[in-house]
Amino acid sequence: MPNDNEVKPAGMMNFLALSNDSTVKTFIMATLVCLVCAVFVSVSAVMLKPLQQLNKELDKKKNILQVAGLYQEGDDIEAAFSKIDIKLVDLETGEYSIELNAETYDERRAAKDPALNVQIDKASDLAGIRMRPKLMPVYQVKEGDVVKQIILPVNGYGLWSTLYGFLAIESDGQTIVGLSFYEHAETPGLGGEVDNPKWKGLWSGKKIYEANGEVGIDVIKGSVIPGSANEAFEVDGLAGATLTSRGVGNMLKYWMGVEGYEKYLKKIQTNGV
Ligand SMILES: Cc1cc2nc3c(=O)[nH]c(=O)nc-3n(C[C@H](O)[C@H](O)[C@H](O)COP(=O)(O)O)c2cc1C
Repeated sequence: MPNDNEVKPAGMMNFLALSNDSTVKTFIMATLVCLVCAVFVSVSAVMLKPLQQLNKELDKKKNILQVAGLYQEGDDIEAAFSKIDIKLVDLETGEYSIELNAETYDERRAAKDPALNVQIDKASDLAGIRMRPKLMPVYQVKEGDVVKQIILPVNGYGLWSTLYGFLAIESDGQTIVGLSFYEHAETPGLGGEVDNPKWKGLWSGKKIYEANGEVGIDVIKGSVIPGSANEAFEVDGLAGATLTSRGVGNMLKYWMGVEGYEKYLKKIQTNGV
């Protein structure tokens, strides 16, 4: 029950005594509401930041598991991810690097950090990304002590956006298991069909390098001709989305090439993982 006898400061009394139609009272009330909301939003943003970070990391892990075919809806992501070792690879040498902590390394942040990135020459920037990290994480899926698959982060420009995804390959460093994008802004129904499970299914079993060592994998315009010489290296283009399709092909040409994972993958092909 409000106590009418309660002593209020004179300023407060004057404010409350103002008519509800008063411009001053309306303005002060609106300012107070804004202040309270601003404090509420700021406190929520700060408090929820660690949770958002955790969810982002879980989502990344889920995408890695999905491209490797190791995730079903409802699975415990952390438990499934415990089969995966993360290592950093120096793309210049193709060797593993222990310079930084692989568990906490963020390749997207590294790509923007002048101390951790390299500028890509315009002529060789097939992926249209301008900069890439010196070190890239590789995710090794193990069965016991044996590495069965390697998952490589890739990114490149489509038509409207940079697509970010993962290419899963077998431990032979040559055979593709799957390709999946976790972030892009291509048009739904056109370039957005990169997410279509039917199209994603076309990647399984495709080969990366031709017999002469060149990167062969590509997305072509139209459909792959069964029995053709390049069948093992080609994936059908997306209908009505030639530019996104070309972007995906070019991104793989870049990342599987000499500035990308080529030195690492060639080492694996000769020496094992
Ligand atoms: C609104 C709009 C959105 C489009 N979005 C895409 C897209 O996401 N990816 C793409 O490759 N083409 C997109 N296109 C089509 C391209 O402009 C271009 O026509 C197409 O890539 C050519 O593909 P095609 O040779 O298979 O017809 C879009 C076109 C329009 C009008």
